[in-house]
Amino acid sequence: MTDTLTDPIYKTDSLIAEDIDAYLDVHQHKTMLRFITCGSVDDGKSTLIGRLLYDSKMIFEDQLAALEADSKRVGTQGQEIDFALLVDGLAAEREQGITIDVAYRFFATEKRKFIVADTPGHEQYTRNMVTGASTADLAVILIDARKGILTQTRRHSYLAHLIGIRNIVLAVNKMDLVGYDQAIFDKIVADYTEFAASIGITAFTPMPISGFKGDNITGPSENTPWYTGPALIEHLETVEVNSAVDADKPFRMPVQWVNRPNLDFRGFSGLIATGTVKPGDAIRVLPSGKTSTVSRIVTMDGDLDQAVAGQSVTLCFTDEIDCSRGDVIALADNPPQAADQFEATIVWMADEEMLPGRSYWLKIGTQMVTATVQQPKYQVNVNTMEHLAAKTLDLNAIGVANLSTDKQIVFEAYADNRTLGGFILIDKISNATVAAGMLHFSLRRAQNVHWQATDVSRDFHAALKNQKPAVLWFTGLSGAGKSTIANLVEKKLARMNRHTFLLDGDNVRHGLNKDLGFTDADRVENIRRVGEVAKLMTDAGLIVITAFISPFRSERDMVRQMMQPGEFIEVHIDTPLADAEARDVKGLYKKARSGQLKNFTGIDSPYEAPLDPEIRVDTVAMTAEEAADAIVARLIP
Ligand code: ADX
Repeated sequence: MTDTLTDPIYKTDSLIAEDIDAYLDVHQHKTMLRFITCGSVDDGKSTLIGRLLYDSKMIFEDQLAALEADSKRVGTQGQEIDFALLVDGLAAEREQGITIDVAYRFFATEKRKFIVADTPGHEQYTRNMVTGASTADLAVILIDARKGILTQTRRHSYLAHLIGIRNIVLAVNKMDLVGYDQAIFDKIVADYTEFAASIGITAFTPMPISGFKGDNITGPSENTPWYTGPALIEHLETVEVNSAVDADKPFRMPVQWVNRPNLDFRGFSGLIATGTVKPGDAIRVLPSGKTSTVSRIVTMDGDLDQAVAGQSVTLCFTDEIDCSRGDVIALADNPPQAADQFEATIVWMADEEMLPGRSYWLKIGTQMVTATVQQPKYQVNVNTMEHLAAKTLDLNAIGVANLSTDKQIVFEAYADNRTLGGFILIDKISNATVAAGMLHFSLRRAQNVHWQATDVSRDFHAALKNQKPAVLWFTGLSGAGKSTIANLVEKKLARMNRHTFLLDGDNVRHGLNKDLGFTDADRVENIRRVGEVAKLMTDAGLIVITAFISPFRSERDMVRQMMQPGEFIEVHIDTPLADAEARDVKGLYKKARSGQLKNFTGIDSPYEAPLDPEIRVDTVAMTAEEAADAIVARLIP
């Protein structure tokens, strides 16, 4: 995704002529409003954005004209041509494939600076809308006055609300095409009020406008004397921005890095997510819970007496307490919670479906942990808001699911704090962002289930058996020879008085995993469960041998991470597909080739060979006996 800041069009005021320094100062201290426009080209979105940009630029030209004695003022006709060109330009950009990305545009008026994210409106661009909306203060929902509320109006409103946008403008556009009829406007507002309430939107600002004619854009329109509310730009200039709302919340700052240029200075740098901080404030570092007092607030421009949400600062404490990247600094007497199990809304953004049970990186604020998502509780139909049953989430799907993290994370509900409640999921192998999500709450069971210490320890179990536990993890295609070689290895180890257990795919699928099939999601769950069982067995002191296709690197790596260092030994039974297929001991390849068996590994389901296995067995060059001897020799030198 490319985020482009295009077309900086600055609007100046008379200060520029009189006192350039004063002008720059005013401009620098203007607040910034970020907003998104939702709607399609048919609703007049390009025209409206063009109008906003153009109207700012027009004032610029007016002033230029005033500045320079010989007028550069453009005549009315000229303005209209320019306006049309601008709109054509915006529409052309969209057609050239920029449609799939979010285009950011910058403009300013005398009172404020603006960034507008022009997000594509079609359902297949849900992820783009979510991306564009994630930092927005306001959403303009465009409606064509002739058409009223459409499916897309509902979808955009739902997404804007989901993302936590507090200010919604219902811009009823193309009023010129319905004769500026108040009854039409009132009917649309009444319909929208009812719908909005059903999805939890309690307040919005409706406006009758014409982007094309300019009605109620910069000031009141003569064509709508019955409308007494603000014009669009007026509203954009005065509505409360998020940073103002965030400043009133309790203080929280995720630590980005520790600043220690020399032994005399130690500060913690980050962007203040919410609240205000002053020297002398009592703070608490989470998750450790250690407390101290703020001694200094350091910035590039010197020390501050106070800093607020939205500012990047470095905090120094009166005590040398532990604090590092990923920690959260908060008010001592009102800190956020930490937990490792949550309910969350997830917006899936990858072409590959979500795999419940797979480990993804979860990034929240400056914290990065490993997370697994369970099967969704439901998926939301973004057009009707219906809840549908779902086993997974596909591209652009939105669902609610429980997830768990490998470490506690400091969090707040997304509704209270976008920084500490909003997260992304990243694929561990491709490093691509695959989802965005919003935490609802932590699961109480996470607080009520504690690890129980047992007296007969893992080491004791192993010592009793007089061996070092290990997992010989066999992976390879169906028919590669995994079961045959694993069986030989177990016999050889048993003869050496080793305590072993062989977990074999076909057998485990008759019991523990008989509810699972061969979809990607089921294979992920198959390996997750086998990994957990193998871990319990190593805790019991056993040498575990597993024989599963285990086609995905991700899950094999996940099991590796679950074991003690050095305990996991990956054994690639490397048989070329052609050879496995030629042997076809179970006749399954024949069935798969004839289409009777779907999702067969190597045929229409992938196999990801290990990149760096501890042992690689070439079954074409070696007999099963030789392979088994080599594996035993590696385990017990
Ligand atoms: S895994 O992919 O989830 O690791 P597992 O090793 O448990 O698979 O099971 C594979 C065995 O199931 C194969 O040896 C084969 O006998 C049988 N099988 C049945 N259907 C399939 C299929 N679609 N793909 C692969 N193996 C299948």
